[in-house]
Parts: sequence; structure tokens; C-alpha cells
Amino acid sequence: MQSPPFLPHFLQLHQADHRALAQEAATGLLAPAASVSPKFLYGVLGSRLFDAITELDEYYPTRTEAALLSQHGAAIRQAVLQATGLAPALLDLGAGNCAKAARLFPALAPRQYVAVDISVEFLRESLTQLQRLHPALPMTGLGLDFSARLALPAGLLDGPALVFYPGSSIGNFSPDEALRLLTEARAVAAGGALLIGVDLVKPVPVLEAAYDDALGVTAAFNLNLLRNLNQLLGSDFNPRQWQHLAVFNAAESRIEMHLQARQALQVAWPGVLRPFAAGERLHTENSYKWTPGGFAALLRDAGFGQVQHWTDDAGWFAVFLAAG
Ligand code: AVI
Repeated sequence: MQSPPFLPHFLQLHQADHRALAQEAATGLLAPAASVSPKFLYGVLGSRLFDAITELDEYYPTRTEAALLSQHGAAIRQAVLQATGLAPALLDLGAGNCAKAARLFPALAPRQYVAVDISVEFLRESLTQLQRLHPALPMTGLGLDFSARLALPAGLLDGPALVFYPGSSIGNFSPDEALRLLTEARAVAAGGALLIGVDLVKPVPVLEAAYDDALGVTAAFNLNLLRNLNQLLGSDFNPRQWQHLAVFNAAESRIEMHLQARQALQVAWPGVLRPFAAGERLHTENSYKWTPGGFAALLRDAGFGQVQHWTDDAGWFAVFLAAG
């Protein structure tokens, strides 16, 4: 058994399969209604553009969630500790720079911190810095693709945990996929709790502006997916030939991002020529917006017996705590 000061452990479980990813992207592009997974939005530049989005005036989720966690910190702390007992393990899904979870440390005094992201390389620097500030807290960086399946190595957590999934990233999953992830989150919490940020249904102009901002940062984020595809497939997408679109699909309760061909064009990659008609779209992301009642019902379907939530005055965003 080590004693403090600790160094973080890193464990990479997910192995990126370049060929499988390229195959997946090609299949989506060649479908009659072209679509690709939003995971192709990310990469070095895509992640930076997303960080810039979170600073935009129009993109309310990040600051609204931070305000809720701070304003209701005492009530959230009490509810969490009631579910997990003192000093829970803290499992941070999609941890990135670990900043949001670190803000919970003073209130929760966790006994263990596990940061999960698709690659430990995204975690290495931030976790190493965080460990210097908290030398007595055992920390693990885990490289795991929990969008496919959330399961932890046996013995990694040694009791009830608080699973923390902020940022309304659950909105990027379809309701069926979200139910699967929440069910798995309940299993890994092992009698603990889930603290999760959820973006809510609101007036359409507010939603559409959040995904089509005046500075064009979200447009750049979406168009950058074409660069990522070029790198992956060796294709020749020209971002200048495409326009960013963000539309609210009321029937599905989701913002959809698309890229629309400005003119008739062709995209080539080895062995393939894919023509696009003028106006034809490539669907790149869904961001589901929930009602508080709808998300509470989803949590109950996932097996949670106790569900409570906090919202801002406008009712734009909610932080849910689910236990039991
Ligand atoms: C990461 N995720 C929660 C963001 C969202 O709001 O769906 C991604 C995003 N897409 C466009 N803007 C931000």
C-alpha cells in the first residue's frame, strides 16, 4: 500500500481502431441520408473549438450548470453524502481538464478520484497537476470509451461512488442509448449516486442561437469535422463548399447540427466517389433537450429510486441527483 504524497495511476483500456473508425465514417457518408457520429467533431482543434464554445454568450449550458452547482452546493453535498456515506469515491465521466470535478473536492472530500476519458493522454497533464494540489487523494486516469459501454475493472472502486457526468453530454445520446448509459452508471455507482447535468427544452430561438453563434465558433467546430474526416479517410472535403446548420427538431426534442452542400459537389477518397447534390446534408450531431419530468422518468427507468433536481430561474438547465 502506497502512502501520500501519491502519484496518479493511468490505465488505458480503450484501443483506437483506425480501420474500424474509417469504415464507420465511410458507411455513414455513403448512406442515402448521410450522417456521421459526433465523435468525429473532436480532435486537437475540435476540442479547443468546443472549449471556446463554452465561453460564448449564446452557449448558456456551461455557465448555468456551474452556477447551479455553486448556488445549491450545500444541498447537493448533503444529498450526495446521504446516498454515498462520507468520503465517496468520485468517478468523473468525460473528465477532460478535471476542473469541474475538482470544484467538488472541498465539499465532498472524496476518498478516491477516478477521471475517465477516451484517452489517458487527455488526462495526463491535468491529473498530474491536480495531484500536486491534493497529494493525499488517490487519483486514477482511465482511458475508456464509455459511450460504447461503461464498466470498470474489478476492484477499481472499493465502495459506493458518486458518478459525476456534467456538461449535458448525456444529450448527445439518443434516449435509448442514454437509458443504457444511465443503467450502467447506476451499476458502477454500486449503491452510491449519480450527479448529472441536463439541458432542458426552451424557446427555439435560444436553442438555435446556442448552436449557431454570432462569431461562427460553432460553425467552425462543425466544419472542422470535415478536416477530421479528411485525415481519417484520406478524403478531399473542402470546408468552403459546406454550410453549418443548426435546427431544432421538435418531434425528436433535439437540436440537430448538419453540414449542407452549398453546390453540387463530389467527395473522393481511395476507391470511392461520393456525389452530393446542392443543398444535400450531412448530419453531424444530435443534442437532445429534456423536460425535467422526462429526464426523471428516464432515471427511474434506469433503476434509480430517488431522484431530485435543481434548475435555474429560467428553467433552462437542470442538475439531477439520482440514487437508490
Ligand atoms: C458536448 N456537448 C454537450 C455539446 C452539446 O451542447 O451538445 C456539443 C456541442 N455541439 C455544438 N455546440 C456544443
